[in-house]
Amino acid sequence: MGNVKTSRAGKRAAQAPAAIDPSAGLLGAVPFACAMFDAGGVLIAGNARYREEFGALPEHASRDALLALLQGDSGDSEGPREVLAPHSGRWYALHWGRAEHAAAPVEVLTAVDISERIETLDSHKNRQEKLLFTSRLMSVGEMAATLAHELNQPLAAIMNYLNGSLRLVEQAGGPVQVERALQAARTQAEHAAAVISRVREFVRAREPRRDAHELSRIADTVLELLRLEAERLQLRIDLGLPTNLAPVFADRVMIEQVLLNLVKNAIEAMREIPAARRELRIDARMNLDDQVEVRVSDRGAGLSPAEQDQLFSPFFTTKTDGLGIGLAICRSIIEYHEGRLFFEPREGGGSVFGFTLPRYEART
Ligand SMILES: Nc1ncnc2c1ncn2[C@@H]1O[C@H](COP(=O)(O)OP(=O)(O)O)[C@@H](O)[C@H]1O
Ligand SMILES: [Mg+2]
Repeated sequence: MGNVKTSRAGKRAAQAPAAIDPSAGLLGAVPFACAMFDAGGVLIAGNARYREEFGALPEHASRDALLALLQGDSGDSEGPREVLAPHSGRWYALHWGRAEHAAAPVEVLTAVDISERIETLDSHKNRQEKLLFTSRLMSVGEMAATLAHELNQPLAAIMNYLNGSLRLVEQAGGPVQVERALQAARTQAEHAAAVISRVREFVRAREPRRDAHELSRIADTVLELLRLEAERLQLRIDLGLPTNLAPVFADRVMIEQVLLNLVKNAIEAMREIPAARRELRIDARMNLDDQVEVRVSDRGAGLSPAEQDQLFSPFFTTKTDGLGIGLAICRSIIEYHEGRLFFEPREGGGSVFGFTLPRYEART
């Protein structure tokens, strides 16, 4: 507002409507809350809007008290500020200007209500975030579908070659080592095919179906899939799943997918450490927000701060054989369920990856 001379104008407007404090003069013509304070910070005059919008506050008569209330302790009165008025929940752009009134310096406060603009911005931001989230979910889904499709063809070919070779070896009556190796390779290929068909099944299920599910049943399915791998690594898996845990409101296949990913990552994180230290835990409990919280803990190398930053970005991987989409898919799925996927370092070394899910009862 700068150095506006209000003294003369103030006198001229002194014959303004009686409802307005005569010394407010010009202030009565301002279409938003406006007030004048003397050099000591005491209120001299305020227009009707000012009294309507701030009059209820004991602080409205003192510049410093009002500032402390609206701007916190920042105290800086230079330039416009966007503040939230705690008594009304409305947003204001505050501006302080210096002027002269009755030959004395005064400070003029204008408070323009900008709540509508702030609300529009907020809802716009919400919409943007939702859009971003659904597009992430879709691109991850599409990526998984493409991958599953692309991998299916070479896998089928591998199976055919293996079966053919096995027949030839059988006909020739050995050598037995080759026969065993071929059988082992076929078992692995079958396993890979099973994983891929699960991914396809999961991606095809466009419409997720949420229902009541026991976490321990979900964990059983996942552990069954990973049993072989755990045995091969001589890895112990301990379970801490209370039998009386509330059922979750979730799409079963999707949550299996998440748990499978987290447990697989945990197993992979312990490939390089001595067998005696390979210890994996799956725990579940109710958290303070009354949600079911699941935690997968390993004794791997953990994560550096830089790795933690990128953890959930698609294609972030530190593995030579990694795709880096596991955690990105997990996060999309858990967010879709209104839950949270998180990482924290494990006490005594290693990582904890966890997620939350709403209880079934809380949803119906
Ligand atoms: N339990 C874990 N311990 C240590 N690092 C992990 C763990 N889980 C995930 N990570 C890190 O996050 C990266 C991304 O994981 P993910 O999205 O599942 O992709 P991928 O397993 O294909 O690499 C991994 O490459 C690894 O660096
Ligand atoms: Mg992974």
